[in-house]
Amino acid sequence: MFEGRKLKSASVPEDESKRQYHIMAKPGDVSRYVLIPGDPDRVKKIASYWEKSWKVASHREYLTYSGYYKGVFVSATSTGIGSPSTAIAIEELARIGADTFIRVGTTGALRKDIQVGDLIISTAAVRLEGTSKEYVIPEYPASASIDVVMALIAAAEELGVRYHLGITASTDSFYVGQERPGLRGYLPPFKRGLVDFLRSVNVLNFEMEAATIFTLANIYGLRAGAVCAAIANRETEEFVMEAGVEDAVKVANEAVKILCEWDKEIEKHGKKNITPAIIYDWISKIRG
Ligand code: URA
Repeated sequence: MFEGRKLKSASVPEDESKRQYHIMAKPGDVSRYVLIPGDPDRVKKIASYWEKSWKVASHREYLTYSGYYKGVFVSATSTGIGSPSTAIAIEELARIGADTFIRVGTTGALRKDIQVGDLIISTAAVRLEGTSKEYVIPEYPASASIDVVMALIAAAEELGVRYHLGITASTDSFYVGQERPGLRGYLPPFKRGLVDFLRSVNVLNFEMEAATIFTLANIYGLRAGAVCAAIANRETEEFVMEAGVEDAVKVANEAVKILCEWDKEIEKHGKKNITPAIIYDWISKIRG
């Protein structure tokens, strides 16, 4: 369908309308608020909660929908699994107007008290992946944006779902990189003990995208957060496909509505960022 289409240049791979090479979306197609699951099917699940939605584009692992959730213009784009394809999604979505990203993912919990089906809201991510290292020194922090984290907490509290807050580890490998045996039990010595070590430094969970999302968002002055459903627990060895995903989707959608309300208040108050006073006023207003 796209064969022969000429783009601007090899270093600026977009067409004359600024339609981006990988995601095949252009300015105006997406909201400033974009939910970014890995799985294209989850884009449809996210959009099923919107009062109105439409498919924007579909190319390779990138499926994009836009629509309205409780009156707020919102989009969702799948990133595929892992950091390289996720970095492409952030790069191209930001070029066409997105500035706030919420990962809606699945994760493996490291601690017994995090039950399968619980949600984990990341405050930061250990950069065990390689993509963020293409961008910046290893000491640079992969921290989530405070207002996105607060909006995710507010949404989880409002919806009454079980959630945990803390540091995530993002890897490039689901099996060996997360200390699961590779084929025929292969596990290199430098991965043995990784789960115990991360647990001992209070890391809550493994997933594969948050560190890259947070690093790029900080470098570019964008905002990002992540809410993941714990489908696995590395202590109890339980694994339940899609456990908690519906809750993660609901929390992420609601967080977009809350962020939009806060963004209007931030502007009204002439501030550059969220403040406790703005949140306090917002709570008073919604409680009437
Ligand atoms: N995703 C991961 O990266 N790891 C898990 O254990 C589960 C989901």
